[in-house]
Amino acid sequence: MKIEENFSLKDYNTFGIACKASQFISVKDSAQLVAILKNHAQNNLLILGGGSNMLLTQDVQALVLHIALKGISIVAETNDHVIIEAMAGENWHDLVTYCISNNFGGIENLSLIPGNVGTAPVQNIGAYGVELQDVFHACKAIHIKTQQEHIFTKEACKFGYRDSIFKQEAKGAFIITSVQLKLTKKNHLLKTSYGAIAQKLEENNIKNPTIKNISDAVIQIRQSKLPDPKILGNSGSFFKNPIISKAQFSTFIENHPDAPFYKISDAEYKIPAGWLIEKCGFKGARFGDAGVHKNQALVLVNYGNATGKQIWELAEKIRDTVYNTFQIKIMPEVNII
Ligand code: EPU
Repeated sequence: MKIEENFSLKDYNTFGIACKASQFISVKDSAQLVAILKNHAQNNLLILGGGSNMLLTQDVQALVLHIALKGISIVAETNDHVIIEAMAGENWHDLVTYCISNNFGGIENLSLIPGNVGTAPVQNIGAYGVELQDVFHACKAIHIKTQQEHIFTKEACKFGYRDSIFKQEAKGAFIITSVQLKLTKKNHLLKTSYGAIAQKLEENNIKNPTIKNISDAVIQIRQSKLPDPKILGNSGSFFKNPIISKAQFSTFIENHPDAPFYKISDAEYKIPAGWLIEKCGFKGARFGDAGVHKNQALVLVNYGNATGKQIWELAEKIRDTVYNTFQIKIMPEVNII
């Protein structure tokens, strides 16, 4: 187990930002993780999964713990359901592919989301009508200070829109080591009502879709709208879709009757930040190597050599313009380091 010094994180964050970590170690199993925490729990630590939800704006003066725990297993099974456990360092889409090839239903709508399994519960990943919480059973996590293992049930995780206990009161206290999902073996609960999926299935001439058909449709939609981080550095949606009160919504929609929106409850409405950003003229804009994706204004991109600071300056400019135009605050979805 060797701790690297002055280590480049360029290949460890999907924005492709060339910041350095003062110390770095990749951890392959739980025993190794506990041993490192015993010696370094008091140090400044940065826990790194797939690096798909962070923006590095400066060099990291900390020990970066890259979680590379691997493995997928079945922990329980009935005729109808299976509970699988995936280790935190598994790539999320590889897990989706494993489930599709074993005919385990539930995460097909979450195909091609960048990042690793261990970070999926942190922000309750979601796309095309499904959120992780819909299939989540439990996760195991190591408490950094005591090195004790805790099991978090679904209720304990307090999931919300792109939110969980790991972003709130338990922030920075735990390292998730594995995630258990409860999936269907038959009578899959297919979620095809999201407009773009229904349209893609029709285009593909599919009337009775399988989970594979849905996964393929989602892959096609994502590939047409969202840039592949291997080709163009990005972190998916940079901002969360803002949630506004009914009173604010009434004024907003009166002034902008063409705006898309989702009603969350009688009191709250969600507005797509991508629409707000596009209306402010940023879609496809480029400032040096920092830019806004041409097909989805919610995604900021690194054309090659942008620094995290330049991306963050662009994000601030977008946030302020959206506020001055619509009086709506948009907040980053990614962690700013
Ligand atoms: N829109 C625009 N301009 C844009 C982008 C979107 O007008 O540049 C409008 C669209 O026309 C549509 C609405 O905004 O009416 C919603 O767009 P879309 O279906 O693309 O979804 P989104 O709200 O922009 C969210 C998630 C995505 C997820 C999609 C699909 C958030 C922050 N983002 O985006 O998640 O893939 O729904 O379910 O909730 C991610 O988290 O990294 C991510 C990509």
